[in-house]
Amino acid sequence: MHSFKALSAQFEEQFSKRQFPDHPANLYDPAQYILGIGGKRIRPVLCLLGNELFDEIQPDAFHAANAIELFHNFTLIHDDIMDKAPLRRGMPTVHTKYSDSAAILAGDVMLIHSYEYLNRIAGKYRTKIINVFNKAAREVCEGQQLDMDMEQTQPERVKYEDYVNMIALKTSVLLAASLQMGAITGGGSDGNQKHLYEFGKNVGIAFQIQDDYLDAFGDPKKFGKKQGGDILINKKTFLLLKALELCNPAQRQHLHQLMETNPDNKVDEVLQVFHDCRVDEWAEKEKERFSEIAYGHLEAIAVLSHRKEALKEVADFLLTRQH
Ligand code: IPE
Ligand code: IPE
Ligand code: MG
Ligand code: MG
Ligand code: MG
Repeated sequence: MHSFKALSAQFEEQFSKRQFPDHPANLYDPAQYILGIGGKRIRPVLCLLGNELFDEIQPDAFHAANAIELFHNFTLIHDDIMDKAPLRRGMPTVHTKYSDSAAILAGDVMLIHSYEYLNRIAGKYRTKIINVFNKAAREVCEGQQLDMDMEQTQPERVKYEDYVNMIALKTSVLLAASLQMGAITGGGSDGNQKHLYEFGKNVGIAFQIQDDYLDAFGDPKKFGKKQGGDILINKKTFLLLKALELCNPAQRQHLHQLMETNPDNKVDEVLQVFHDCRVDEWAEKEKERFSEIAYGHLEAIAVLSHRKEALKEVADFLLTRQH
């Protein structure tokens, strides 16, 4: 059994050796750039951990892990175009550094490379793994579209359950599928796979709450994204939706005015309202609520509890992360 840290190092060691072709440089440089500026590599490590929960890590788990990290980075490049984000991992986003066209195409080619890794899966589980991957990939697209649809919707008209469903699709299913793909290569039973998937999904929801929280209240030097980026584009985040529910009529009017007029001090003003109606405290509790559900599913997995330690460690890290 390996720790989360040991598996991260093992993944990084082999992942950093993979190479894109040299030509055309204008296609592959942006792809290499996003992979070279860091990233926590959570999803591929979850895949390896999912495997190791049941058995020794199989070579197929590494093929799946590489596919997942390439896919994740492809979604980030395209997401940053959609969100008009200037910074990613503390560095200029791909479309800012190169161009929108280069970023679109670099993302596309990374998706294809991702499938090439899936094709290398040799064992009997290949089709099953590809099906789990495809389902998650499709759901990420659905979540991203719902996210953009919600941007066009009045915040009061967004139901909280619809919001949770949207972030489950755009963020959580890939974390959940990463674990499940690993569980498949490790020979985990269908029942255990299901609980592991649900563990990942609920950790993923809490992970997105933390992401929304850090976007507003995090230290931009650590977080590596523009502080208040979500506030600037009136993104329907957990914080905004809850603030509108908790605040008084004057605060609500103030929030609406800020969202409509986009003054220079918008981020500071919105943060003040968030603080005043204590959505930061609420976010902490909501994160706890989803992590409790997640831990219930982890408990239900029928393997010796010491095998689950590393997964607990990752979940704790994800929910208290500052970047
Ligand atoms: C960012 O994911 C996108 C979200 C789903 C919130 P990560 O926070 O895992 O990004 P990196 O790969 O570590 O940069
Ligand atoms: C991104 O959600 C989800 C995907 C990339 C599929 P966000 O838009 O909240 O992620 P960040 O904050 O830009 O990393
Ligand atoms: Mg987005
Ligand atoms: Mg984004
Ligand atoms: Mg975000």
